Amino acid sequence: MIKKAIFPVGGLGTRFLPATKAMPKEMLPVVDKPLIQYAVEEAAAAGIEEFIFVTGRNKSAIENHFDHSFELEEALCAKGKDTALKTVRDMIHQPGTVFYVRQQEPAGLGHAVWCARHLINDEPVAVLLADDLIFGSTCMAEMVAAYKGGNMVAVMDVPKSDTGSYGIVTPGSDDGQIVDVSGLVEKPEPANAQSTIGVVGRYIIEPGVFTHLANQDRGASNEVQLTDALARQIGKAPFKGLRFSGERFDCGTKIGFLQASIAFAMSRDELAGPLHHWLANRFPNS
Ligand code: UTP
Repeated sequence: MIKKAIFPVGGLGTRFLPATKAMPKEMLPVVDKPLIQYAVEEAAAAGIEEFIFVTGRNKSAIENHFDHSFELEEALCAKGKDTALKTVRDMIHQPGTVFYVRQQEPAGLGHAVWCARHLINDEPVAVLLADDLIFGSTCMAEMVAAYKGGNMVAVMDVPKSDTGSYGIVTPGSDDGQIVDVSGLVEKPEPANAQSTIGVVGRYIIEPGVFTHLANQDRGASNEVQLTDALARQIGKAPFKGLRFSGERFDCGTKIGFLQASIAFAMSRDELAGPLHHWLANRFPNS
C-alpha cells in the first residue's frame, strides 16, 4: 500500500558544525554506515520501492553514496575484496527508483516534504528522518503493518522536561500500542504540554497534508512544520500514533549520536568485546 518514502535531508545540521559544514549530517557514520543508509534500509524492509531524497546544498555526498563508484568497485575487484565489493554493490537500488529534489532554502521539515509533492500521487507516503535512528526494530515496517489509512506517526514517551524538543500528542483512546491523536503541538513548553507522548521522525502521511503544507504557514522556530499540517488534518482523516518497539536515538544531538555509536558497536560481535574491555579500563570508576 505504501510504496514511496521521502527522506528530508535539507537541514543545515548546525548542531554538528563544523563536521556538517561541507558534509550532510545524514552522512555521519554510526560505526561504519551513514545515518541515511540506516533509514533507507529501514524503509526497504517496510516494502518501500521508491526513495525520494529532499536535498539541500552540500548534499551531493548522499547522491554519490547511493550510486555506483566504478573506480572503487574495480579496485576492490582487483584486490579480491569480495565482501567489501558486495557491500557497496548491494546498496545500489534499481535504476529509476531513486529521486532527488532540491529544497532551495531550509525553511523547515514541512517545507522539505512539500518540495517532493510532484513525485507523490493520490497515495499515502512514508517520511523518515535519518537523524532519528532506531535500534532493535524496523519501526517503519511496524507502522506499515498497523496502518489503516489517514495519518500515522511513531511515538514514544518522553521526559516531561523534554517536551520542548518534540511534537507532543494530545491523546484520545490508547490501547498501549496505538494512540488516537486528537491534537498535536510542536515543541510545547512542559507547562503547556498536553501529554508526554512525543513524535519521533517516522510518519505516514496522506495526500490531504500536502494541501496544508502548500500554505507555507510558519510555526515553531519560524519554520514550516510538518506537525502543524498534520494537526490541521485532525477530524478530516484518522490520525494514529504507534508506539514502536526498539530504541530511538536522537542522532541530531551529540549525546544521542554518541549513545547510538556505542549501542550499535556493542551489538556487533567483533566490536563488543574490545569496546567493553577498553571502556572498563579507561573509565574504571564510571
Ligand atoms: P532538524 O530539526 O534536526 O534540523 O531537522 P537540522 O537543520 O537538520 O539540524 P540543526 O537543528 O541545525 O542541528 C530534522 C530533519 O529534517 C530535515 C533535516 O535534514 C533532518 O533530517 N530538514 C530540516 C530538512 O530537510 N529541511 C529543513 O528545512 C529542515
